Amino acid sequence: MLEALKRLFRGHQEIGVTSDTDRSETIKQLKFGQIPKHVAIIMDGNGRWAAKRGLPRIAGHQAGMKTVREIVRVADDLGIEVLTLYSFSTENWKRPRDEVNFLMKLPQEFFNSEIKELKSRNIRVEMVGSESQLPGFTMSAINQFREETKENTGLQLNFAMNYGSRSEILYAVEGMLRDQAGGHLDIDEVNEETFARYLYTRDLPDPDLMIRTSGEIRISNFMLWQLAYSELWFTETAWPDFKEKSFLQAIQDYQRRSRRYGALK
Ligand code: IPE
Ligand code: IPE
Ligand code: MG
Repeated sequence: MLEALKRLFRGHQEIGVTSDTDRSETIKQLKFGQIPKHVAIIMDGNGRWAAKRGLPRIAGHQAGMKTVREIVRVADDLGIEVLTLYSFSTENWKRPRDEVNFLMKLPQEFFNSEIKELKSRNIRVEMVGSESQLPGFTMSAINQFREETKENTGLQLNFAMNYGSRSEILYAVEGMLRDQAGGHLDIDEVNEETFARYLYTRDLPDPDLMIRTSGEIRISNFMLWQLAYSELWFTETAWPDFKEKSFLQAIQDYQRRSRRYGALK
């Protein structure tokens, strides 16, 4: 706990934000024994953020990258184990080609600017989603991340790229049928746990907390299976404006929730 506190205060100096009492108060109120293990975020609102400023949508995505950097640091400082960021959905291919191309180049840009710090923080980078339609240069950036960080044991940072939960569920069903046909899976072994092992998120815990920015109150094909008992947190704030403060607020609200899983307290 003390370590997490120290990291948070140190991290804060690094990003160069002047200390404010609000922030220290929020941090002091956090229960470090109850930090969510897995936080998943639907990073929404980049386009609207840009439009509001008379900028092209891609300027919003660029600004959103800064938020990614900040939130990854804070998540790591807090001792969160898994951070999944919804970066590109299977439905996002419907967007104009220029925008899609821009988004596909972001993993390489993120690699170039962040790999050093991610490694020094012992962060492991992975992706969840279907690799097949992603361009070679996107996959090569992701594979570079995987290769360079595979031994790391700290925060797992997952990018949900070309991710769609319905297609993930079908992928799992196909995998099971294939294993059954090959004699590796018996129908009697099929239960929630085995099924979960066939999803892209195979060895990850379900998200404890799911955050969506920018005012939309929907799931948009994100982790339909995994979110069954997650706490959901929505904010009007657009992703580029989502800073440490909003993140700490979400964690604090999460810690006030009563998770019952259908049972009684
Ligand atoms: C989220 O911002 C980023 C992606 C979906 C890739 P949007 O691009 O959806 O921004 P809005 O929702 O149009 O404002
Ligand atoms: C969800 O946002 C996908 C990502 C954040 C990557 P969208 O902006 O694509 O979702 P809809 O279209 O508003 O449902
Ligand atoms: Mg959107």
